[in-house]
Amino acid sequence: MTPERRLPLPLFLTYSRAGTTIQTLRALALVIVAGAALALGAGIGPPARADTDAAAPAAAKEGEQLFDSHGCGFCHENGGRAAGKGPKLAGTERTDSFIIFRIKHGKEGAMPAWGSVFNDAQIADLLAYIRSLKD
Ligand code: HEC
Repeated sequence: MTPERRLPLPLFLTYSRAGTTIQTLRALALVIVAGAALALGAGIGPPARADTDAAAPAAAKEGEQLFDSHGCGFCHENGGRAAGKGPKLAGTERTDSFIIFRIKHGKEGAMPAWGSVFNDAQIADLLAYIRSLKD
């Protein structure tokens, strides 16, 4: 006879239910922690790429291809290194958010809006490219 079995039946049920509840909660907590770790690993969290210098050249290269293939250089000449119809982009003192805003929304009568052409990751690549240009 185990001590548990000597408990009156209602008490035994209460205790064993409590034990089960705690075990269930532990299992749930584990699932949540594992899920969060997976989500971070899968990149659902904040983009790690922008924060690592090692990845910046890759983003800039992607951005350069987008820049060339979408005709930005028609106005921002020599790959953005020289002024044309649009200003020179190399060495710009504009903030990241200004550059992102300008690419997304353009400027009426001056520059087309690209917000429906590029997704945020592509615009981040264009920004990385512009920042990589040597003045
Ligand atoms: C039809 C010409 C034209 C094209 C094409 C064009 N731009 Fe522009 N862009 C301009 C002009 C003009 C301005 C200046 C707008 C103003 O008056 O502030 C500008 C401004 C900018 C700025 C802000 C620079 C600053 O110092 O104010 C960025 C960044 C930029 N363009 C990026 C791009 C990118 C990236 C592309 C391609 C996806 C592109 N542009 C395509 C004409 C163009």
